[in-house]
This record gives sequence, C-alpha cells and structure tokens, in this order.
Amino acid sequence: MSDTDTKNRTSKLDNIKAEFPELNRVINSKPVVFLDSAATSQKPMRVIDKLVEYYSNYNANVHRGVYSLSMESTEEYDTARELVREFINARSTNEIIYTRGTTEAINLLARSWGDANIGKDDEIILTELEHHSNLVPWQMLSQRTGCKLRFIPVDDFAVLLIDEYKKLLSEKTKLVAFNGQSNSMGTLNPIKEITALAHDVGALVLVDGAQYVPHNKVDVRDLDVDFLAFSGHKMCGPTGIGILYGREKLLDEMPPFLGGGDMIDTVHYEYSTYTGLPIKFEAGTPNIAGAIVLGEAIRFLNDLGMENIRKHEYELTAYTMQKLQQIPKIKIYGTTDLRQRGGAISFEYEGIHPHDLAQILDSESICIRAGHHCTQPLMRKFGIAATSRASFYIYNTREDVDRLMEGLAKADQIFGL
Ligand code: ALA
Repeated sequence: MSDTDTKNRTSKLDNIKAEFPELNRVINSKPVVFLDSAATSQKPMRVIDKLVEYYSNYNANVHRGVYSLSMESTEEYDTARELVREFINARSTNEIIYTRGTTEAINLLARSWGDANIGKDDEIILTELEHHSNLVPWQMLSQRTGCKLRFIPVDDFAVLLIDEYKKLLSEKTKLVAFNGQSNSMGTLNPIKEITALAHDVGALVLVDGAQYVPHNKVDVRDLDVDFLAFSGHKMCGPTGIGILYGREKLLDEMPPFLGGGDMIDTVHYEYSTYTGLPIKFEAGTPNIAGAIVLGEAIRFLNDLGMENIRKHEYELTAYTMQKLQQIPKIKIYGTTDLRQRGGAISFEYEGIHPHDLAQILDSESICIRAGHHCTQPLMRKFGIAATSRASFYIYNTREDVDRLMEGLAKADQIFGL
C-alpha cells in the first residue's frame, strides 16, 4: 500500500462516526457517546441498507429453490462465506460454519468434537480470563465425560502466566481453549505462543475470538489455531450470526451438532446419512439475512483496513489510560502495557458503585457497561463483584473520551467521598 493509500484510509476512519446513524442520536439534549462496543458494536448505514436490500429484493430460502430469487439469495449467502474465509485467511469455505454467534460456536465444538473425542482421563486447559461462554460449555462436557478442566492463572494485571501454563501441559491435554482478548480486562493474549505450546503436546487449540477478531487482523494459517469462534454483531454486523472456523480435516471427522433439513444426504425412517462441509453443521433454514449482512460488514471493515482499526484503538486506549491515571480515585484493572491490551478498559471509582456510575454517565448520554461482564470467576479472583468498563471501536474519538472524563467528574460531585 502506498503512503497516499494509507493516509486516505486513515482519514476515512477519522470521519467514520457520521456513517453510524445511532451515533448521531441526541438523548436528553446530549449527543450519544457509545463506549460499550465490547458488548455489541454499532452498525454503519451500508450494513443496515444491506438488510433492507435482502428483504426487499431477494428474500428466498437458500440451497432449495431452482427459481431466480432463491439462486440470488444462495449466491449472496455463499459469497458472504467466501468473504469470511478471506477475512481470516482460511484455506476453504468448508472451514467456515455459520452459527448464531460465538457462544453457539463453542457449544457446537464442545458437543460435537468434545463428545466424540474426550474421555475421563483427558484434560482441557482454559484460562482464568474466560467469558462464561468459553467456560460453561466445557464444564458441561466435563460433567458428561468426567474430563478435568485446568486453568492458566493470571497475575495481578490479568496477564496469563505462561510458565504456569507450561506446567499444566501434558500428554493428557486434548484442548487448550482461550480468548484472544479478554472482554473484561482487555488483555491481549499471545495466541501464537499458547498455540505452539499446545501443539507440542498434541493438543488442539480453540480461540474465542469474540473480542479479538473485530479489532485485529487475523490469519488463522499464520496463528496456526485449530478452531476460532467469533460473532458478527461485535464487528458491525447483525446479531444472531457468528462463525466457527475449524481445520477441514477436524470438522470433517466431527459428527453433526443439530439434525434436520439441509444437513442430510439421504434420509430413511430409521436412519440418515449426512452431507459434507460446511452444511453438515447448518441444519434448518439458516440466518440467511444475518450471513449476507455480515458479508457487508466485512467489506466495510476491509475498506477501512484492520491494521488501521488496531492503530486507532491503540491510540485511543493510550489517551484514555493516560486520562484515567490522572484521577487518583480511579483504579484501572489489567495491564498498562498497551501492546498487551485492547480497547476495553475496566476500572473502579473509589466510593462509587459501578452501577451508580453507569447511571450517572447515562444521564449524560454516555453508555458504558457495569457488572461482572460474564466473567464471575475472574471477578471473584480479583475480590470484586463488578467493574465499570469503557470499550472502543472504530467510531470512537478523543472527544468521546473527554465526555467520559466530564461524566466522571459529575459522578464525583454527586457520589464522591
Ligand atoms: N460479552 C459481551 C460483553 O463483554 C456481551 O459485554
């Protein structure tokens, strides 16, 4: 890419907010500041338009009709799968399974691969940083099979202790499952290092990419991961669509997760045979609109450039951390090493409960998340019930952060000790 291209792309990102209609809303006479993109991202107009285009022009079931409308919707649906493949550099669209989201992708893996491959003497390594969605499915597998779950601990800055991880690995380890970025502490985990160590003992690797894929350039071949799960709605796409990436050979050997229409080859009253990848894992009418619109969200992100997105969030996180660090009553959780963290910042304001803080900020039209962020065990480990969390995406600006600081000052006036 030439310098001019880089400059053009960067400036395109600078003005991106205007393309997101919800970010132009004014509530209580104050423009909305959206700092909860780790929960879900906002959608640009072209993504919203794509949903209207689908339902207005070629709404028809996929892989079933011989008529033009069905062929059109099938073509768009399959094109979206190719866009996802290219986005993460998978080898084949057979490796891209549409799911409802990250949670369903991980449950699919635990049910299908887990039930077929895991026994009572096996071990699965998770981390103390996991979201409930990469914890509960493995607990359920453990209850079904008797396998043991082990956990890579974190230090006081929510950074994984790799030396402790090395001690957990053994020939019993069958899977290492961890998030690329922690949703509650912002930690960016060393995916390649964790993966290489897992492979050394013959274990497979699943990355929960819900918080990682929307913000970083991903190349599954370079990372060498075996499975990757992520959600469309955190990357400018719609809710109800997500992806399970898996190496083709592994997915091919796995039994179906759900049974029904489309995933079959032949059906008899007593038994059935199943079709091949990826449809083997997509029983019933899929989320056609969701997949097609996710494709448009990927085109949008590609136009911006994933490196530009990471750079923008890095700079915004640095700016915010520096501002928050100037407030003595604020304790920031997670590491201050910006190379090891993404754009989700959890903090505590001394003397103000996170829910009270979130409510005061809401009265200023500033949206943050307060709570345990679906990481209850991690909160317990840090001896807290909840944090306040500000999280960023492509459309956030320094002005948004300045508004957050003004809101915090107001909260201090009301609740401050
Ligand atoms: N997992 C999402 C979050 O962290 C919902 O907010």
